[in-house]
Amino acid sequence: LWTTHRNPGFPAQASLCPDGAIDAVAEELGVDLVVIGPEAPLAEGLVDALRDRGILAFGPTAAAAQLEASKGFAKEFMARHSIPTAQYSLHTDREEALAAVAGPCVVKADGLAAGKGVYVCSTAEEAREAVHALFDGAFGDAGARVVIEELMEGPEISLLALCDGQRFVSLPPAQDHKRRFDGDQGPNTGGMGAYAPAPVPEGLIAEVEERVIQPVLEGMAEEGRSFQGVLYVGLMLTQDGPKVLEFNCRFGDPECQPLMTLLDEDLLPLLLQCAKGELHKEAVQIREGVSCCVVMASGEYPGAVRKGHVISGLERDRQDVRVFHAGTVQDDQGKILTNGGRVLGVTAWGKSFGEARSLAYSRVAEIHWEGADWRTDIGWRTKEN
Ligand code: AMP
Ligand code: GLY
Repeated sequence: LWTTHRNPGFPAQASLCPDGAIDAVAEELGVDLVVIGPEAPLAEGLVDALRDRGILAFGPTAAAAQLEASKGFAKEFMARHSIPTAQYSLHTDREEALAAVAGPCVVKADGLAAGKGVYVCSTAEEAREAVHALFDGAFGDAGARVVIEELMEGPEISLLALCDGQRFVSLPPAQDHKRRFDGDQGPNTGGMGAYAPAPVPEGLIAEVEERVIQPVLEGMAEEGRSFQGVLYVGLMLTQDGPKVLEFNCRFGDPECQPLMTLLDEDLLPLLLQCAKGELHKEAVQIREGVSCCVVMASGEYPGAVRKGHVISGLERDRQDVRVFHAGTVQDDQGKILTNGGRVLGVTAWGKSFGEARSLAYSRVAEIHWEGADWRTDIGWRTKEN
């Protein structure tokens, strides 16, 4: 429905679709498949509402989306099914949480907080401050339950699988860059860039499929919450093997951009097969080479941003580069303006990581608006620097 902004063929009311009425509008328009991107409508049960109307939807039900919407649920689920993750404790009481802090640890809001409800604390004092901030309501109800976790170390990767409730196929491993500034400095963001495939130790993907993805699908089905949609597994590769940092229930942003660039078959049949519970594939077709996405953001992001700057340099069409729009809007005269924190995902494909990255950055250099900013070191952990 979102694409109707740019598709005059669709009835006007679709682009004016108010929150909570998407299922009704989809029925009115005779939509065959709804693909849900963000976490909030998944957690609020949009898939359930669509199913009630007999409309196919790609994405988990509200009960299955708890894997992302409640970190406490995810931790307890992993404990029940012996899925490797950091040691943890779960608290609804401030004093108990404070008493559980004993040195470096990670303090997390239970609920959805747009990627910002996680405090990585190097001292007990910092952790106690984080506990207070959450119970004082820094993230509203999302912080009414607090998870305290063992602090793990190691490189991070994301593995996404398309799931039909029972079966799955994995996409290539991706690496996100969550911190705002170069060298992984500054506050956490939704993600400032990503590339895929990220190099991983041999056998890692099979290990994660066997120890994480398969048991998640089996466990969720057993508990009456079959998981259909994208299972996004955020992992830390620790000395004791891969451990789950978090689950998301959707294509990550910006991981999705390089992954879609690498996908070498039609996405729609895959989504339909998942939504219908009829996925019968061993693997998806993946293009060779590497894809790298550099996010161009408003300078103030992740703080409150100024919108409405005119973006120039978008016209140029370069082979193997796609500029994905995120926070943009088109005005009456057809000009494209900034309209959010993360504005564009400049994504390039190359035979090697070095090629993909230099192509992405040369396209970034052609695009301008007042206050545009980006990280200059996407992929700095790869050996090819
Ligand atoms: P999450 O949203 O739970 O993935 O947390 C956001 C980021 O915080 C992760 O990408 C990690 O960089 C960091 N983080 C989360 N949990 C831990 C942990 N137990 N140990 C170390 N770092 C963590
Ligand atoms: N880039 C991480 C996410 O979409 O949550």
